[in-house]
Amino acid sequence: MDQQFAKDVAEGLSASPKKLSSKYFYDEEGDRIFQAIMAMPEYYLTRSEFEILETNKKLLLDLFRNGSGRFNLIEFGAGDGLKTKILLRYFTEQGTDFQYIPIDISGNVLNLLVSDLEQALPELQVEPMQDDYFKALSRLKETSDRRNVVLFLGSNIGNFNEAQAISFLTKLGENLSKGDILLVGFDLKKDPERIRDAYNDKTGITRAFNLNLLNRINKELGGEFNPDKFQHYQMYDPVSGEARSFLISRQQQEVKIKALEQSFRFEAWEPVHVEISRKYDIPAIEKYAKESGFAVKQYFYDCRHFYVNALFQKK
Ligand code: AVI
Repeated sequence: MDQQFAKDVAEGLSASPKKLSSKYFYDEEGDRIFQAIMAMPEYYLTRSEFEILETNKKLLLDLFRNGSGRFNLIEFGAGDGLKTKILLRYFTEQGTDFQYIPIDISGNVLNLLVSDLEQALPELQVEPMQDDYFKALSRLKETSDRRNVVLFLGSNIGNFNEAQAISFLTKLGENLSKGDILLVGFDLKKDPERIRDAYNDKTGITRAFNLNLLNRINKELGGEFNPDKFQHYQMYDPVSGEARSFLISRQQQEVKIKALEQSFRFEAWEPVHVEISRKYDIPAIEKYAKESGFAVKQYFYDCRHFYVNALFQKK
């Protein structure tokens, strides 16, 4: 049993208001549903970032190698590496002296990615690191003399609240050297209806994604949730830019979780907060950079200005 998961579930369901962390969405089934989300017409984020990387791959290479230097291309949370493959393929074709270092806490994700890359790009040098992001980065800082270029794509930063994001970026920066590069994907503020549709698709894929968290508790912690007794609810606050997802108890109920030796009471229509997916404007991005010790070097937009990849440089 994953002790941290058990502890977080116990704490989250005892809190008021109740909450569960979206980082637990990604078990095998969650990974599979997330792939389906990325392919949905409503989920514009993936295609926007894809377009940005495709359009700017040459410029990015010039910036990454800063002259003709060698570099480590490090990726946090690479997933299936689909977007990154645009860069990997192009950099390899250009005979670039770099190695690709995907970092993930899940060995399963890394194994799949590495065997896929072996097939697709046999000449690419891949050095996966199965570790905590910061521990892996600090090891690289000590052992490698190459420039470090970190990719944090997919608007993953948006799943943190502001304080968490700034502390994450600050810690990341502490494990980089002056002049190192960080490319971050930020989803931008836009028509609120479009944002809501991206997280509340009519086909119910996002609903299944969020409810899967209850299935995961059932499977891994002996929970007795009936997902049909919960409803997926999504709202977007255009002021803070936070899209928030909740699981709402449709009735008063008590749910036992065997591994915790505890039951949790839910009132009728009581919400459990499960995810923030924040949307940004440029001043908010600049604040993040400034407060975490980075300078913003350049912004790369898709043609609709739905999304931006910001190039940060460690000061
Ligand atoms: C992984 N993360 C950036 C996604 C997002 O957009 O917040 C997760 C997601 N949740 C619902 N749809 C997609």
